Amino acid sequence: MNDLNPEFWSDRYKNGQTGWDLGHISPPLKAYFDQLENKNLKILIPGCGRGYEGIYLLENGFTNVFLADYSKEALNEVKRNAPHFLDINLVCANFFDLEGPFDLIIEQTLFCAIDPSLREDYVAKASQLLSDDGKIVGLLFNREFEDGPPFGGNQSEYEKQFSKSLQIELMEDSYNSVTSRMGAELFFIAKRK
Ligand SMILES: C[S@@+](CC[C@H](N)C(=O)[O-])C[C@H]1O[C@@H](n2cnc3c(N)ncnc32)[C@H](O)[C@@H]1O
Repeated sequence: MNDLNPEFWSDRYKNGQTGWDLGHISPPLKAYFDQLENKNLKILIPGCGRGYEGIYLLENGFTNVFLADYSKEALNEVKRNAPHFLDINLVCANFFDLEGPFDLIIEQTLFCAIDPSLREDYVAKASQLLSDDGKIVGLLFNREFEDGPPFGGNQSEYEKQFSKSLQIELMEDSYNSVTSRMGAELFFIAKRK
């Protein structure tokens, strides 16, 4: 397996090898954001990449949005795309070192990018980062891949991993995914146990 570290990901950005990048906000997340009424929720998007979800939130009046990625190159790209994003809201750090609490954490292709042996640690960390009423919401691949990253999986695996530290409110086939991921991703909402 590749060494998964910030340099690995920064090289991918520098060399334009960013096959995961949709080039725009993921539609299921846009639909979720559009029904949120509280624009002051403290929101974390870890492994944000080029940051489309965070930029959308910022441009739609959300006041407390933090984008985190351990690749400096990813955050440079966010800055290029959205110079108005305040530096204080762009956090260059490993997900496992972040500090909360957050009302909402958004999962979008970070879970599939970390070593699968760290999945339960990811779930425990997400739970630790959430405020008492906080939620983690996002998308998980519902398929396998030959050589990761991305690393795939399926609903029953995720249910087992997530239920160790989180209470799953919803996990179902995503009906409004982009065409290339239609039928191959799950939308989920989970909260602290
Ligand atoms: C597959 S990319 C997804 C980027 C973005 N979420 C998207 O969908 O376009 C994974 C991102 O997570 C970042 N990443 C991977 N492991 C991380 C970790 N442990 N802490 C913080 N960022 C991480 C990488 O640098 C990369 O930008």
